[in-house]
Amino acid sequence: MIFDRNEGKNVVALLGAGSMGTAIVRRIAAGKKILLGDISAQNLERVSNELRYSGYDVETCIVNALEKESIEAFAQKAASLGEVTAFIDTAGASPNQAQPEHILRLDMVGTGYAVDAFGQVMAKGGAGLVISSQTGYMFPIPNEIELEIMRTPTEALIDLPFIRENAVNSGRAYMIAKRVNHLQAQKAAATTWRERRARINTISPGIIVTPLAYDEFAASGDNYQKMIDASAAMRTASSDEIAEVGAFLLGEHATFITGTDLLIDGGVIASIRTGAYKLR
Ligand SMILES: NC(=O)c1ccc[n+]([C@@H]2O[C@H](COP(=O)([O-])OP(=O)(O)OC[C@H]3O[C@@H](n4cnc5c(N)ncnc54)[C@H](O)[C@@H]3O)[C@@H](O)[C@H]2O)c1
Repeated sequence: MIFDRNEGKNVVALLGAGSMGTAIVRRIAAGKKILLGDISAQNLERVSNELRYSGYDVETCIVNALEKESIEAFAQKAASLGEVTAFIDTAGASPNQAQPEHILRLDMVGTGYAVDAFGQVMAKGGAGLVISSQTGYMFPIPNEIELEIMRTPTEALIDLPFIRENAVNSGRAYMIAKRVNHLQAQKAAATTWRERRARINTISPGIIVTPLAYDEFAASGDNYQKMIDASAAMRTASSDEIAEVGAFLLGEHATFITGTDLLIDGGVIASIRTGAYKLR
């Protein structure tokens, strides 16, 4: 049976077919073609089946978000399927899942390659969203270094002295990578994505209960409990809560919003900045 006779459908590309990314795609991809990219074939099969059985039109592609060529091939594949009107990047590893070098190469450099590659293929009026993290607010980077980071090409980021000297453990590497995500989106919004008349933003989620978060809870003692208890919301959140905001930022009501970050953390960063929670 042919479910959909429309041709030339717009494309929604998701890099990192995980919990938050899938929740976003479900909200914005009705009547569109979804292209899922992930390093895990098993993930791709499971998620694409779930989406197909929910009525979506899905294709998949193995992508290693650590490799520039693989990401560029993913962007080209998306463009070959139709007008790319939305790109979401959620491919990442958290501090307890990887060593500092891996985190910098995936969460920072890989994200940069993805922002660069989709900056070459986005359709006019399209929008991008990178999932950063509240941790991007936990290790302030001096302004002059941030400007240097924005002037630095993606492949050279990892060798910047500030990054080499400060990414001393996985937690710190993650904080730096996630702050750099904000800067990458700002830079792209003003340059490559602007030239295509497309927008790009980041969301910095707090503690969202996903498989990645379970890895963090398992390895962090009572840190997360204390963080939750000191926050204004006094709870974790679900991927769906992030997806609501993601859909808004990618949609028609947000066409004046680009180059910005939205912190959705239930008040964790406010509690750190006011001293109610002491970061260890
Ligand atoms: N869950 C949280 O509490 C939380 C909070 C803040 C930020 N984040 C960030 O949100 C993003 C999405 O996380 P999630 O919680 O939905 O996790 P998730 O584990 O459900 O999704 C991450 C996806 O990235 C994929 N991936 C990992 N390495 C890859 C690679 N080399 N190439 C391609 N794909 C790869 C994984 O297979 C997985 O599908 C991550 O960047 C994470 O750092 C998560």
